[in-house]
Amino acid sequence: MASGLILGIESSCDETAAAVVRSGSEVLSNVVASQIATHALYGGVVPELASREHLTNIVPVVRTAVAEAGITLADLDAVAVTEGPGLAGALLVGITYAKALAYGLGTPLIAVNHLEGHIHAVLMEAKETLSLASGVPVLALVVSGGHTHLYLAEERDGLWNYRNVGRTIDDAAGEAYDKSAKLLGLGYPGGPLMDFLASHGDPNAVEFKLGGIKPKLHRDGASRGGEFDFSFSGIKTAVLRYTELHSMRERAAARHNALMQVEGNRREVALALCDRETLDLIASFQKAVAGYLVKQTMRAAEEFGAGSIIVSGGVAANRALRERMSAEAATRHLQIAFPSLALATDNAAMIAAAAWPKFAAGLFASDDLNAVPQLRLG
Ligand code: KG4
Ligand code: ZN
Repeated sequence: MASGLILGIESSCDETAAAVVRSGSEVLSNVVASQIATHALYGGVVPELASREHLTNIVPVVRTAVAEAGITLADLDAVAVTEGPGLAGALLVGITYAKALAYGLGTPLIAVNHLEGHIHAVLMEAKETLSLASGVPVLALVVSGGHTHLYLAEERDGLWNYRNVGRTIDDAAGEAYDKSAKLLGLGYPGGPLMDFLASHGDPNAVEFKLGGIKPKLHRDGASRGGEFDFSFSGIKTAVLRYTELHSMRERAAARHNALMQVEGNRREVALALCDRETLDLIASFQKAVAGYLVKQTMRAAEEFGAGSIIVSGGVAANRALRERMSAEAATRHLQIAFPSLALATDNAAMIAAAAWPKFAAGLFASDDLNAVPQLRLG
C-alpha cells in the first residue's frame, strides 16, 4: 500500500535541494545546499559553475534528505523532479539523477514545473488557513529572482489548473533588488540585505514611479504589456541615475570592497557602511516595489473575482511586501497566505508537494523526460 512518500529534487538554479514529503503536506525532511558563496564572487549566477556544483551536491543532498526523513529509498512511492523553467545544465543534473533513481527503485517519476512548485509551497502550508471554495479562483503572485507572474489557480477534480494573467515584460522583481543592490555595493543576492537595510531609512525620501507599460507585440506573436503585467527595468535605471547624480558610486565601491572581507552575517556591517542617503534610497526603493506588486495584484484580484491571494518565491520573504499585501487584503476581505521563510526561496519540499496531486492522478513522466529551460505555466 502506498504511504504517500514522495522524494522531491530541485536543481533549476543555484540551490541543490531534496526533500521527502508525505501525502503532499507533511514535510519529513527539507535539505537545501546553497551555492551563494560560489556565485557571490561573480555578482550573479554563473550557469557553468551551477551545473558543476549540482553534480557535486546531488548525491549527498538526496542521501541526507532520505536519512533525515527516517526512511530508506525503498520506502519511496515516487520521485519528483523540476522539469523547468531554469538553467538547462542545472536542470539536467536533477532530471538525470531522478530518472536513474526512479528507474532503479521501480517507482514512478513525476515532472514538476518550478513555478507550480512555488505555488504549492504556500498551498501545502496554508491548507488549514485558506478555505478554498470551488468556482472561486485563487490569485497567486510568484515573485522571485527569475520570475514575476500572476496566476489564477483553481482545483478541479483533484488537479490544479493555472491561467497566467500577468507577467513581467523585462526584469523580475528579485532581479531589480539584486541589480540595485549591486549598484550600491551590497553584493549578491541583494534582496535580503536590502530588505533589512530598508527598515533603517526613510521610505518617503525618494519618489520612484513604477508601471505605465505600453502594450506591444512580442516576437512570439503574444501581446506584452497587458493590464496586469509588470515592468521593473525603469526603477533599476532610476536607482542608477540617482547614484550618479548624488555621486554615490565611489561610496558603493568602497562598501563592496569592505563587505567582500566579511564572513558570516553581513547585516550589521552593511548597516554601519551605509550613509543616510543610501539608506533612504533603499527604503524608498522597497516602498515603491512593494507598493507596485500590491497594486497590480489587488487590481487583478478584483478583475478576476479571486477569493484569496497567495504570494510565493524568494521575494515573498520581503517584510514590506508581506505587511502591505496583508493590510490591503484585510481591507478587501480577501484571504491571504505566504510561505514560511524556509519554503519561500527555492527548495524541494514544494516540488514533492506539487507532485502529490499528479501522483494521485497517475500523471507520470516518461523515460525521455528532458529539461525545458523556458517551460511556462498556464
Ligand atoms: O525563489 P528564489 O530562491 O529563486 C528564484 O527562483 O529566483 O528567489 C531568489 C530571489 C533573489 O532575487 C533574492 O534577492 C530575492 O529572491 N529575495 C528577496 C528577499 N529574500 C530573497 N528580495 C527582497 N526581499 C527579501 N527579503
Ligand atoms: Zn524559484
